[in-house]
Parts: sequence; C-alpha cells; structure tokens
Amino acid sequence: MDRYAVIGNPIEHSKSPEIHTAFARQTGEDIEYIRLLGNPDDFNGDVRRFLAEGGQGLNVTVPFKETAWRLADELSSKAHTAGAVNTLTRLENNRLRGDNTDGVGLVRDLTVNQGFRLEGKRILMLGAGGAVRGVMRPLLEQNPKRIVIANRTASKAYSLANGLLEYGQVAGCGFDELDGMQFDLIINGTAAGLKGEVPKIPGSILANGGWCYDMLYSDQATPFQEWGNERRAGRSLDGLGMLVEQAAESFRLWRDVLPETTPVIAQLRNARN
Ligand code: ATR
Repeated sequence: MDRYAVIGNPIEHSKSPEIHTAFARQTGEDIEYIRLLGNPDDFNGDVRRFLAEGGQGLNVTVPFKETAWRLADELSSKAHTAGAVNTLTRLENNRLRGDNTDGVGLVRDLTVNQGFRLEGKRILMLGAGGAVRGVMRPLLEQNPKRIVIANRTASKAYSLANGLLEYGQVAGCGFDELDGMQFDLIINGTAAGLKGEVPKIPGSILANGGWCYDMLYSDQATPFQEWGNERRAGRSLDGLGMLVEQAAESFRLWRDVLPETTPVIAQLRNARN
C-alpha cells in the first residue's frame, strides 16, 4: 500500500486525510493517508523520515509551503511561479517534485462547481501572503477584466502586483485606496479570519449582486462569509470546495486518476451539519 501524508503545524484539524480516503475508496486506489505534525525547525528532516518509511507523496500546508518550495529538487511551472509548494511527489532516487494545486483548486471550485465565469470580471483579492501568491496566475489565466490586490501592508500588494505585470490587468493597493471602486468578486486570501477578524475594507465596493469567496474554511460560516451575507452578496462562499479541488488535483498527480469531487464536498458539508 502506498503511503501519503499532509504535513503542517498545526495539523490536527486538517480534513485532507478524510478527503483523500474518500478519493481512494471512490477510485479503488489502495493508499494510506495520515497527518504529520511538522517541526518548524526541521521540516526537511520530517519529510526525509517520511520518505525513508516508504512515503510516496505529501501535501504541504501552513506554514511550510515556502520551505517545501526550497526543498523540492524540481518544480512544476505553476509551483515555480507561485513560490510555494503544496504537493510533493517522490521521484526515482528519492528526488522530490514540487507542485502547487491551490490555484487550480480555486479556479475549478469557482468556475465548475459554482458556475462563476471569471472572464471579464472585476476581482478584488485581499491579502498578499503565500496563500494569495499561489493562486494569482491561474486566476489571471482566466482573463478577468482586472484583479486588484489589496493588503493591510500596502507595500506587499504593490510588490506582488509588480511581479505579475506581464498580465497587464493587475494592480496593488492598500485597503484605504479602495473607496470608489466596484468588484464583481471579492476573494479573501488573508489570515484575518483565523483571529475572527475581517479585513477593514469599505462595504460599498461590492457590486450589486457581486460574490464573496473566502479561501478559508471552518466548521462555521467564516467572518468574511458573514461580511458578504450582511452586504447582500449574490453568493458568499467558504473555501471547502477549493480544499477538495486542490486535493483532487494532488491525487491526480500522484495516482494519475482525477476523482469526482461533488460527492466528497457533500460528504464534508453533511459532516459539518
Ligand atoms: P499565508 O501564507 O497564509 O498567506 P502570510 O504570508 O503570513 O500567510 O500572509 C497572511 C496575510 O493575511 C497577509 O496578507 C496579512 O496582511 P499583512 O501583510 O499586512 O500582514 C493578512 N492578514 C493577517 N491578519 C490580518 C488582519 N487581521 N486583517 C487584515 N489582513 C490580515
């Protein structure tokens, strides 16, 4: 049986084992998938030990995505440009390939599961950390009209936008520069929700019927989802679908079969209710 794991810190609330176990059952793949609590001072050691015990691949979550990017012996183009790795695959001679499936996961959840067409839309991305960097290029490749990246620390938004200038439709700013703008979709990629907070943005920037999407997921509605509901967003979604979609893409990279995500998303939603 091939062994896989998700490594992060903290890790006890990760849904990845449940998701991958459901994928394995559905596709008839014989795998085991566990949680690994990573040591912030010895991530590389933790990974090497797992491989030495027969591990075939790892999902990588907070706070190790940049460390995994540095550790990988080779990178997919998506991972290379994202500067972050969420999927490690063992190759011959214990070499490691790094991929990033977060952007594919977000785009598939929005477009396939929720039916939101990104092309031509005005999008606001909140945050400029690793989570946002990982999804920017796949979003831009959907040809939105424009993506504004807004961050509490404006300088980080400017520099992230500067690195994406070849796309032509990206700008960075601080929250206080958003007044007067209008967006069809606001995506929250900040960590504010982990502290029960919402980024301090003006409510008036959500276009009539515009959508809100929180890349976070928790057992209750997230603070940003509530922000969207209070402002009558067309839809106000959490990141559960993205979580399952990025997992499906990792599973495909490892096992060469793309699982069906709809029943797994439903299973996790039901477990929550
Ligand atoms: P990650 O890899 O999860 O993105 P990170 O690199 O630490 O983590 O980035 C966290 C993001 O959440 C940043 O954009 C951060 O804003 P700053 O760059 O100004 O620190 C944002 N963030 C965290 N707490 C926030 C809060 N309470 N309000 C608004 N933004 C917040």
